[in-house]
Amino acid sequence: MICLGIESTAHTFGISIVDDKGKKVLSNVINAYKTTKGGLIPAEVADHHVEVLGEVLSQSFDKAGIKPEQVGLIAFSQGPGIGHCLRIGAGTARSLALLLKKPLIGVNHCIAHLEIGRFLTKAKDPVLLYASGANTQVIAYEAGKYRVFGETLDLGVGNFLDSFARELELGFPGGPKIEEYAMQGKKYIKLPYSVKGMDISLGGLQTNLSQKIKSGHYSKEDLCYSVQETVFAMLVEVAERAMAHTGKTELLLGGGVACNKRLQEMCRLMCEERGAESFVLENQFFIDNAAMIAIAGLEMFKAGMSTNVEEAGIRPYERTDQVDVKWR
Ligand code: ATP
Ligand code: FE2
Repeated sequence: MICLGIESTAHTFGISIVDDKGKKVLSNVINAYKTTKGGLIPAEVADHHVEVLGEVLSQSFDKAGIKPEQVGLIAFSQGPGIGHCLRIGAGTARSLALLLKKPLIGVNHCIAHLEIGRFLTKAKDPVLLYASGANTQVIAYEAGKYRVFGETLDLGVGNFLDSFARELELGFPGGPKIEEYAMQGKKYIKLPYSVKGMDISLGGLQTNLSQKIKSGHYSKEDLCYSVQETVFAMLVEVAERAMAHTGKTELLLGGGVACNKRLQEMCRLMCEERGAESFVLENQFFIDNAAMIAIAGLEMFKAGMSTNVEEAGIRPYERTDQVDVKWR
Protein backbone atom coordinates (compact mmCIF):
# COMPACT_ATOMS: atom_id res chain seq x y z
CA MET A 1 0.00 0.00 0.00
CA ILE A 2 1.13 3.56 -0.75
CA CYS A 3 0.71 6.16 1.98
CA LEU A 4 1.00 9.93 1.73
CA GLY A 5 2.20 11.41 5.02
CA ILE A 6 2.05 15.02 6.17
CA GLU A 7 4.21 16.57 8.90
CA SER A 8 3.46 19.99 10.39
CA THR A 9 4.05 19.97 14.14
CA ALA A 10 6.43 22.94 14.19
CA HIS A 11 8.89 24.66 11.77
CA THR A 12 8.77 21.91 9.19
CA PHE A 13 6.07 21.32 6.62
CA GLY A 14 6.67 18.06 4.80
CA ILE A 15 4.93 15.60 2.52
CA SER A 16 6.25 12.13 1.86
CA ILE A 17 5.06 9.17 -0.14
CA VAL A 18 5.98 5.72 1.14
CA ASP A 19 5.32 2.31 -0.35
CA ASP A 20 5.34 -0.43 2.26
CA LYS A 21 5.95 -2.98 -0.45
CA GLY A 22 9.75 -3.18 -0.52
CA LYS A 23 9.85 -0.57 2.26
CA LYS A 24 10.47 2.28 -0.13
CA VAL A 25 10.42 5.97 0.73
CA LEU A 26 9.45 7.26 -2.73
CA SER A 27 9.70 10.92 -1.77
CA ASN A 28 10.39 12.93 1.35
CA VAL A 29 10.02 16.64 0.67
CA ILE A 30 10.31 19.22 3.44
CA ASN A 31 10.23 22.97 3.59
CA ALA A 32 11.20 24.40 6.98
CA TYR A 33 10.35 27.90 8.18
CA LYS A 34 13.59 29.76 8.72
CA THR A 35 14.45 32.60 11.00
CA THR A 36 17.82 34.13 11.82
CA LYS A 37 16.70 34.95 15.36
CA GLY A 38 15.63 31.44 16.21
CA GLY A 39 12.34 32.56 17.78
CA LEU A 40 9.10 31.33 16.35
CA ILE A 41 5.75 33.09 16.05
CA PRO A 42 3.07 30.41 15.57
CA ALA A 43 0.88 32.42 13.19
CA GLU A 44 3.89 33.24 10.98
CA VAL A 45 4.95 29.60 10.81
CA ALA A 46 1.40 28.59 9.90
CA ASP A 47 1.42 31.22 7.12
CA HIS A 48 4.67 29.72 5.85
CA HIS A 49 3.13 26.25 5.77
CA VAL A 50 0.15 27.51 3.79
CA GLU A 51 2.47 29.28 1.35
CA VAL A 52 4.63 26.23 0.61
CA LEU A 53 1.92 23.57 0.83
CA GLY A 54 1.09 23.40 -2.89
CA GLU A 55 4.70 23.23 -3.98
CA VAL A 56 5.67 20.60 -1.41
CA LEU A 57 2.72 18.47 -2.48
CA SER A 58 3.47 18.63 -6.19
CA GLN A 59 7.22 18.08 -5.63
CA SER A 60 6.44 15.04 -3.52
CA PHE A 61 4.28 13.49 -6.25
CA ASP A 62 6.88 14.38 -8.94
CA LYS A 63 9.72 12.76 -7.01
CA ALA A 64 7.67 9.68 -6.18
CA GLY A 65 6.59 9.33 -9.80
CA ILE A 66 3.08 8.26 -8.89
CA LYS A 67 -0.40 9.61 -9.50
CA PRO A 68 -2.73 10.73 -6.68
CA GLU A 69 -5.11 7.82 -7.47
CA GLN A 70 -2.36 5.36 -6.49
CA VAL A 71 -2.31 6.63 -2.90
CA GLY A 72 -4.15 4.24 -0.59
CA LEU A 73 -3.89 6.08 2.73
CA ILE A 74 -3.41 9.63 4.04
CA ALA A 75 -1.48 10.03 7.32
CA PHE A 76 -0.88 13.27 9.22
CA SER A 77 0.85 14.34 12.40
CA GLN A 78 -1.96 14.94 14.87
CA GLY A 79 0.23 16.02 17.81
CA PRO A 80 2.02 16.98 19.92
CA GLY A 81 2.99 20.34 18.50
CA ILE A 82 2.01 23.93 17.88
CA GLY A 83 -1.74 24.25 17.28
CA HIS A 84 -1.46 26.79 14.45
CA CYS A 85 0.96 24.55 12.55
CA LEU A 86 -0.81 21.25 13.25
CA ARG A 87 -4.04 22.69 11.89
CA ILE A 88 -2.51 23.25 8.44
CA GLY A 89 -1.38 19.64 8.16
CA ALA A 90 -4.65 18.24 9.51
CA GLY A 91 -6.68 20.42 7.14
CA THR A 92 -4.59 19.36 4.17
CA ALA A 93 -4.93 15.70 5.14
CA ARG A 94 -8.69 15.91 5.54
CA SER A 95 -9.08 17.62 2.16
CA LEU A 96 -6.90 15.05 0.42
CA ALA A 97 -8.73 12.14 2.06
CA LEU A 98 -12.10 13.53 0.98
CA LEU A 99 -10.91 14.40 -2.51
CA LEU A 100 -9.18 11.07 -3.17
CA LYS A 101 -11.80 9.12 -1.18
CA LYS A 102 -9.08 7.41 0.87
CA PRO A 103 -8.84 6.49 4.57
CA LEU A 104 -7.20 8.88 6.99
CA ILE A 105 -4.98 8.22 9.99
CA GLY A 106 -3.73 10.63 12.68
CA VAL A 107 -0.21 9.88 13.96
CA ASN A 108 1.68 10.83 17.11
CA HIS A 109 4.86 12.66 16.06
CA CYS A 110 7.12 11.26 18.80
CA ILE A 111 6.08 7.68 18.16
CA ALA A 112 6.69 8.23 14.44
CA HIS A 113 10.37 9.01 15.21
CA LEU A 114 10.61 5.49 16.63
CA GLU A 115 8.53 3.69 14.01
CA ILE A 116 10.70 4.98 11.16
CA GLY A 117 13.71 3.35 12.80
CA ARG A 118 11.92 0.00 13.03
CA PHE A 119 10.93 0.34 9.37
CA LEU A 120 14.30 1.40 7.92
CA THR A 121 16.78 -0.47 10.13
CA LYS A 122 17.05 -3.93 11.61
CA ALA A 123 15.99 -2.65 15.02
CA LYS A 124 12.94 -4.51 16.27
CA ASP A 125 12.26 -3.18 19.72
CA PRO A 126 14.61 -0.28 20.37
CA VAL A 127 14.83 2.32 23.08
CA LEU A 128 14.54 5.67 21.29
CA LEU A 129 16.73 8.57 22.34
CA TYR A 130 14.72 11.40 20.85
CA ALA A 131 16.64 14.66 20.95
CA SER A 132 15.23 17.49 18.87
CA GLY A 133 14.61 21.19 19.29
CA ALA A 134 11.72 21.17 21.72
CA ASN A 135 11.76 17.49 22.71
CA THR A 136 14.19 15.41 24.68
CA GLN A 137 12.78 12.06 25.68
CA VAL A 138 13.76 8.44 26.10
CA ILE A 139 10.89 6.34 24.77
CA ALA A 140 10.33 2.58 24.60
CA TYR A 141 7.50 0.13 24.15
CA GLU A 142 6.32 -1.64 27.24
CA ALA A 143 3.02 -3.23 28.30
CA GLY A 144 0.94 -2.12 25.32
CA LYS A 145 2.12 1.49 25.18
CA TYR A 146 5.03 3.61 24.16
CA ARG A 147 6.27 5.00 27.45
CA VAL A 148 8.48 7.93 28.28
CA PHE A 149 11.20 6.60 30.56
CA GLY A 150 13.07 9.84 30.89
CA GLU A 151 12.90 13.38 29.63
CA THR A 152 14.20 16.87 30.11
CA LEU A 153 12.76 18.69 33.08
CA ASP A 154 13.18 22.06 31.41
CA LEU A 155 14.71 22.79 27.98
CA GLY A 156 14.80 20.54 24.93
CA VAL A 157 18.43 19.80 24.11
CA GLY A 158 18.22 21.33 20.59
CA ASN A 159 16.73 24.57 21.91
CA PHE A 160 19.39 24.60 24.61
CA LEU A 161 22.17 24.21 22.01
CA ASP A 162 20.57 26.89 19.82
CA SER A 163 20.40 29.41 22.63
CA PHE A 164 23.96 28.65 23.73
CA ALA A 165 25.13 29.12 20.13
CA ARG A 166 23.23 32.42 19.92
CA GLU A 167 25.04 33.71 23.01
CA LEU A 168 28.35 32.70 21.44
CA GLU A 169 27.21 34.45 18.23
CA LEU A 170 27.58 31.32 16.13
CA GLY A 171 24.25 31.75 14.29
CA PHE A 172 21.16 29.58 13.94
CA PRO A 173 20.61 26.64 14.00
CA GLY A 174 23.28 26.24 16.62
CA GLY A 175 23.75 22.46 16.75
CA PRO A 176 25.78 22.04 13.54
CA LYS A 177 27.94 25.11 14.36
CA ILE A 178 28.67 23.79 17.83
CA GLU A 179 29.68 20.46 16.32
CA GLU A 180 32.17 22.23 14.01
CA TYR A 181 33.72 24.31 16.79
CA ALA A 182 33.83 21.34 19.16
CA MET A 183 36.15 19.48 16.78
CA GLN A 184 38.76 22.21 17.36
CA GLY A 185 38.30 22.21 21.13
CA LYS A 186 41.24 20.96 23.16
CA LYS A 187 40.50 21.54 26.81
CA TYR A 188 37.56 20.21 28.80
CA ILE A 189 36.02 22.93 30.94
CA LYS A 190 34.22 21.53 33.95
CA LEU A 191 30.47 22.14 33.67
CA PRO A 192 27.47 21.27 35.85
CA TYR A 193 26.10 17.82 35.08
CA SER A 194 22.48 17.26 35.97
CA VAL A 195 20.87 13.83 35.70
CA LYS A 196 17.96 13.17 38.05
CA GLY A 197 16.96 9.53 37.91
CA MET A 198 16.04 9.07 34.26
CA ASP A 199 15.55 12.79 33.63
CA ILE A 200 17.94 15.55 32.74
CA SER A 201 17.91 19.26 33.43
CA LEU A 202 19.68 21.92 31.39
CA GLY A 203 18.62 25.21 33.02
CA GLY A 204 21.49 25.34 35.53
CA LEU A 205 24.02 24.53 32.84
CA GLN A 206 22.58 27.31 30.67
CA THR A 207 23.07 29.91 33.42
CA ASN A 208 26.57 28.64 34.16
CA LEU A 209 27.50 28.89 30.46
CA SER A 210 26.17 32.46 30.19
CA GLN A 211 28.48 33.45 33.03
CA LYS A 212 31.42 31.69 31.41
CA ILE A 213 30.77 33.36 28.06
CA LYS A 214 30.51 36.81 29.69
CA SER A 215 33.78 36.28 31.60
CA GLY A 216 35.66 36.08 28.29
CA HIS A 217 38.10 33.56 29.78
CA TYR A 218 37.22 30.64 27.55
CA SER A 219 37.57 29.96 23.84
CA LYS A 220 34.49 29.21 21.77
CA GLU A 221 36.06 25.93 20.69
CA ASP A 222 36.68 24.69 24.23
CA LEU A 223 33.22 25.76 25.33
CA CYS A 224 31.54 23.93 22.44
CA TYR A 225 33.63 20.83 23.02
CA SER A 226 32.84 20.81 26.74
CA VAL A 227 29.13 21.44 26.18
CA GLN A 228 28.88 18.51 23.79
CA GLU A 229 30.80 16.17 26.09
CA THR A 230 28.69 17.12 29.09
CA VAL A 231 25.23 17.24 27.55
CA PHE A 232 25.67 14.14 25.42
CA ALA A 233 27.01 12.20 28.41
CA MET A 234 23.79 13.12 30.22
CA LEU A 235 21.71 11.86 27.27
CA VAL A 236 23.70 8.65 26.99
CA GLU A 237 23.40 8.01 30.73
CA VAL A 238 19.59 8.24 30.73
CA ALA A 239 19.33 6.19 27.55
CA GLU A 240 21.53 3.50 29.09
CA ARG A 241 19.48 3.49 32.27
CA ALA A 242 16.29 2.94 30.24
CA MET A 243 17.96 0.07 28.38
CA ALA A 244 19.04 -1.53 31.65
CA HIS A 245 15.58 -1.05 33.15
CA THR A 246 13.67 -2.52 30.20
CA GLY A 247 16.26 -5.15 29.29
CA LYS A 248 16.26 -3.95 25.69
CA THR A 249 19.37 -4.38 23.59
CA GLU A 250 18.77 -1.85 20.82
CA LEU A 251 19.15 1.90 20.87
CA LEU A 252 17.77 4.12 18.15
CA LEU A 253 18.52 7.81 17.73
CA GLY A 254 15.97 10.37 16.58
CA GLY A 255 15.49 14.13 16.31
CA GLY A 256 17.72 16.81 14.77
CA VAL A 257 20.38 16.59 17.50
CA ALA A 258 20.90 12.93 16.53
CA CYS A 259 22.63 14.24 13.35
CA ASN A 260 25.59 15.00 15.61
CA LYS A 261 28.46 12.58 14.94
CA ARG A 262 29.89 12.82 18.44
CA LEU A 263 26.53 11.91 19.97
CA GLN A 264 26.29 8.99 17.56
CA GLU A 265 29.77 7.84 18.55
CA MET A 266 29.04 8.07 22.28
CA CYS A 267 25.85 6.04 21.83
CA ARG A 268 27.70 3.43 19.81
CA LEU A 269 30.41 3.09 22.46
CA MET A 270 27.87 2.79 25.27
CA CYS A 271 26.02 0.06 23.37
CA GLU A 272 29.20 -1.82 22.52
CA GLU A 273 30.15 -1.86 26.18
CA ARG A 274 26.87 -3.49 27.15
CA GLY A 275 26.63 -5.89 24.19
CA ALA A 276 23.83 -3.88 22.59
CA GLU A 277 23.44 -2.25 19.19
CA SER A 278 23.00 1.40 18.29
CA PHE A 279 21.05 2.36 15.14
CA VAL A 280 21.32 5.58 13.17
CA LEU A 281 19.36 6.89 10.19
CA GLU A 282 20.14 9.27 7.35
CA ASN A 283 19.91 12.87 8.56
CA GLN A 284 16.76 13.46 6.47
CA PHE A 285 14.99 10.90 8.66
CA PHE A 286 16.36 12.25 11.97
CA ILE A 287 15.02 15.76 11.56
CA ASP A 288 11.29 16.36 11.41
CA ASN A 289 10.05 14.68 8.25
CA ALA A 290 6.86 13.30 6.76
CA ALA A 291 8.25 9.88 5.83
CA MET A 292 8.03 8.86 9.47
CA ILE A 293 4.39 9.98 9.58
CA ALA A 294 3.55 7.90 6.50
CA ILE A 295 5.41 4.90 7.93
CA ALA A 296 3.70 5.04 11.33
CA GLY A 297 0.37 5.58 9.54
CA LEU A 298 0.90 2.42 7.50
CA GLU A 299 1.69 0.36 10.60
CA MET A 300 -1.42 1.65 12.36
CA PHE A 301 -3.69 1.17 9.37
CA LYS A 302 -2.51 -2.40 8.84
CA ALA A 303 -3.52 -3.07 12.44
CA GLY A 304 -7.06 -1.90 11.67
CA MET A 305 -6.76 1.66 12.93
CA SER A 306 -8.06 4.75 11.10
CA THR A 307 -9.38 8.22 11.91
CA ASN A 308 -12.79 9.50 10.81
CA VAL A 309 -12.67 12.80 8.98
CA GLU A 310 -14.96 14.32 11.65
CA GLU A 311 -12.56 13.17 14.39
CA ALA A 312 -9.40 14.29 12.66
CA GLY A 313 -8.86 17.28 14.93
CA ILE A 314 -5.45 18.15 16.26
CA ARG A 315 -3.95 16.98 19.58
CA PRO A 316 -1.35 19.63 20.50
CA TYR A 317 -0.74 18.17 23.96
CA GLU A 318 -0.95 14.46 23.21
CA ARG A 319 1.52 12.50 25.28
CA THR A 320 3.33 9.48 23.97
CA ASP A 321 1.73 7.11 26.48
CA GLN A 322 -1.81 8.27 25.64
CA VAL A 323 -1.68 6.47 22.31
CA ASP A 324 -3.28 3.06 22.16
CA VAL A 325 -0.69 0.93 20.38
CA LYS A 326 -2.65 -1.70 18.48
CA TRP A 327 0.00 -2.39 15.87
CA ARG A 328 2.55 -4.13 18.09
P1 ATP B 1 10.67 19.44 17.55
O1 ATP B 1 10.60 18.19 16.75
O2 ATP B 1 11.02 19.18 18.96
O3 ATP B 1 9.45 20.31 17.40
P2 ATP B 1 12.51 20.84 15.79
O4 ATP B 1 11.52 21.04 14.71
O5 ATP B 1 13.38 22.00 16.14
O6 ATP B 1 11.85 20.36 17.12
P3 ATP B 1 14.39 18.92 14.53
O7 ATP B 1 14.24 19.37 13.13
O8 ATP B 1 14.30 17.48 14.84
O9 ATP B 1 13.39 19.56 15.53
O10 ATP B 1 15.79 19.41 15.13
C1 ATP B 1 16.30 20.69 15.11
C2 ATP B 1 17.37 20.82 16.18
O11 ATP B 1 18.46 19.93 15.90
C3 ATP B 1 17.95 22.21 16.29
O12 ATP B 1 17.91 22.60 17.64
C4 ATP B 1 19.39 22.04 15.80
O13 ATP B 1 20.32 22.91 16.43
C5 ATP B 1 19.67 20.60 16.16
N1 ATP B 1 20.75 20.02 15.32
C6 ATP B 1 20.78 19.87 13.99
N2 ATP B 1 21.96 19.36 13.58
C7 ATP B 1 22.70 19.17 14.70
C8 ATP B 1 24.02 18.69 14.97
N3 ATP B 1 24.83 18.31 13.99
N4 ATP B 1 24.43 18.65 16.25
C9 ATP B 1 23.62 19.04 17.26
N5 ATP B 1 22.38 19.51 17.08
C10 ATP B 1 21.92 19.59 15.82
FE1 FE2 C 1 10.47 15.80 15.91
